[in-house]
Amino acid sequence: MIRVDVSLGDRSYPVLVGAGIRHELSAVLPPGTRRVAVVTNPDIPWSIETDLPSQTFAVPDGEHHKTMATVERLCSEFATWGLSRADCVVGVGGGIITDIAGFAAAVYHRGIPVVHVATTLLGQIDAAIGGKTGVNLPQGKNLVGAYWQPSAVLCDTDTLATLPHRERSCGFGELAKYHWLGGGNLDELPIDEQVAACVRIKAAVVAADEREGGVRATLNYGHTLAHAIETAGGHDLRHGEAVAVGLVYAAELAYRLGRIDEQAVSEHRRVIERYELPSRLPADLNHRELIELFGRDKKATRDVTFMLLDRAGTVGPVVGIDEAILRSTLEEIS
Ligand SMILES: NC(=O)c1ccc[n+]([C@@H]2O[C@H](COP(=O)([O-])OP(=O)(O)OC[C@H]3O[C@@H](n4cnc5c(N)ncnc54)[C@H](O)[C@@H]3O)[C@@H](O)[C@H]2O)c1
Ligand SMILES: [Zn+2]
Repeated sequence: MIRVDVSLGDRSYPVLVGAGIRHELSAVLPPGTRRVAVVTNPDIPWSIETDLPSQTFAVPDGEHHKTMATVERLCSEFATWGLSRADCVVGVGGGIITDIAGFAAAVYHRGIPVVHVATTLLGQIDAAIGGKTGVNLPQGKNLVGAYWQPSAVLCDTDTLATLPHRERSCGFGELAKYHWLGGGNLDELPIDEQVAACVRIKAAVVAADEREGGVRATLNYGHTLAHAIETAGGHDLRHGEAVAVGLVYAAELAYRLGRIDEQAVSEHRRVIERYELPSRLPADLNHRELIELFGRDKKATRDVTFMLLDRAGTVGPVVGIDEAILRSTLEEIS
């Protein structure tokens, strides 16, 4: 078992990573917890056990259920069951479940404790860590939410065994970015150490910057193009796959701007290949549209901001990249 503590000012909470760690739930519930409200989806082949009275609140699978309506229904069901601040919500699932369970816990009775049991690779290295929770609106993803830190997070690597192949690859797309955020050659480590290394990096970034201003933006490495690809639509790339393409693009951009050498670009391509992820833009994407979308990325405050690597191995924001370079580099990865 590997333990990583997320420290936030005067508080901190543990993230436990390891095979079978879901069995440690009782040990991480807030002291004095009376009852447990398990939020999960019926398609997830893993559950948790507790000696405390508990009830399962099911949310159907899929991003289109990550809505205010689902949160309202959950909160009503919590109220019917009589859930109170002396109880704890436990989200068991991928990022969709932990986002919903975390948000419901944040707003129910103005905030009750939540523990995340993350069962996808993406959930373990990203979604369950950092305290961002929320749901989608018809107008866009994650538009309503709250920062609500969990009391603990359990990353049980056993649960990854049943993950569909594509979900696993998408997790590796997100994991790949941590190679350049201080993780180094994560691909050489066993899975629990890979997960723990990512958690450690994300925890350090969140500790330095809980509410997303400066350093938290480094977690967006590879994401400016990824978000544009996702918004443009009309292709089959999932988030983690789009991030993989975005990482290669960020490396090529940094190279063209003289920030890194060719070897660093090859290293990006090697890692993306190693995780069997795509490194090329799908053919049907319109480059002009992508460039317009860069400007609308919610992390772009004034001008188009890219998180790029430099020779010292640090990822940081770069503003005002010439449009001609953005365009020719898109052609390069097509
Ligand atoms: N809060 C954050 O900081 C943050 C960060 C990144 C992503 N997210 C959110 O996370 C969501 C994506 O999360 P995800 O990629 O984990 O997807 P997901 O939660 O949809 O899970 C993927 C699929 O795998 C299934 N599944 C989950 N665990 C399984 C297991 N162990 N075995 C078999 N099947 C399993 C799920 O039922 C689902 O069909 C998005 O909504 C995204 O917005 C949030
Ligand atoms: Zn991402």
